[in-house]
Amino acid sequence: MSFSDGASKSSSKSSTKPTYSRFTQQELPACKPILTPALVMATFIVIGITFIPIGLSHLSASENVVELVDQYDEVCIPADSSDPDVAYSKRIGYIQDQTTDKTCVRTLIVPKKMKQPIFVYYQLDQFYQNHRRYVKSRNDEQYRDPSASDKTGNCEPEAQLSEGQPIVPCGLIAWSLFNDTYTLSRNDVALPINKKGIAWESDRTHKFGDNVYSKNFQNRSLVGGGKLIDNIPLNQQEDLLVWMRTAALPNFRKLYGRIETDLEVNEIIKVVIQNNYNTYSFNGKKKLVISTTTWIGGKNDFLGMVYIIVGGVCLLIALVFITVYLIKPRPLGDPSYLSWNKNPASVQ
Ligand SMILES: *[C@@H]1O[C@H](CO)[C@@H](O)[C@H](O)[C@H]1NC(C)=O
Repeated sequence: MSFSDGASKSSSKSSTKPTYSRFTQQELPACKPILTPALVMATFIVIGITFIPIGLSHLSASENVVELVDQYDEVCIPADSSDPDVAYSKRIGYIQDQTTDKTCVRTLIVPKKMKQPIFVYYQLDQFYQNHRRYVKSRNDEQYRDPSASDKTGNCEPEAQLSEGQPIVPCGLIAWSLFNDTYTLSRNDVALPINKKGIAWESDRTHKFGDNVYSKNFQNRSLVGGGKLIDNIPLNQQEDLLVWMRTAALPNFRKLYGRIETDLEVNEIIKVVIQNNYNTYSFNGKKKLVISTTTWIGGKNDFLGMVYIIVGGVCLLIALVFITVYLIKPRPLGDPSYLSWNKNPASVQ
């Protein structure tokens, strides 16, 4: 090399010059779109005219969902004091008393014909199933494997009885299982709720064992919620499986069961509720939801609205661009707009 001198003794082999490649020289093929006005306007228009119909179809599907919501936590408890503190302690006393009859009868009127399958949900508001210490209070190995019943790691404070026997299923989530029940009837004829197949398939087949049985469950002095049947394997007690798929948000619905007959408009549904679950200590709300579904699921206007708003904004932007383009067009790549051409004096 012409630059190497005798002192550095560098041979051409140890040269620091990189070998040529298209990658190091940044010569790889690349997409370099030129955003011409026509292309930009066309893109916005295409987005607009595809999103608005999608949004409208979501909204109309949501409109076709028939939904009955009944909040029963306030009406299903005797409220016999105007002093809030007294009322509060009376409610807690009522709900925690194992001996009182907590039956509560509600009547609902079907607003529109409801085609089967009709889904029955319970909705809890202000229930933080997503709290870190709650979510972690479980042991999946124990739920899956019958020989792991004493594996109660992570389950504190619901891991063992005071004498040391393990609780199966352990943990706070299982312990706080929802325990209100609903019995439906119309014209004094029972309206059966099918509770089979309400949990995830994978929960039934993999996550919970078909030979794991509950043991020592809700046997402590403070009962957190529903009980389990000891001689039915966990994976068939689907209410538990549904409950243990913890909700991400504090207001959530969980599937209770399915009604497999059509309900006609103006029919009167009598609901007998066993109002057991204690949401009163944290001012939570309880609602019974009876709803049909369509291809988008239950009632949900949000997605349709978002599609329409995004589509509308795109069309609006396209319109603005078109107007600007018509009023004040300028040729693409005009060098007179370059800063040094615009103001030559500022360039030395
Ligand atoms: C239902 O759960 C509550 C706690 O939320 C508990 O106090 C009550 O004893 C339970 N009732 C039944 C019948 O399991």
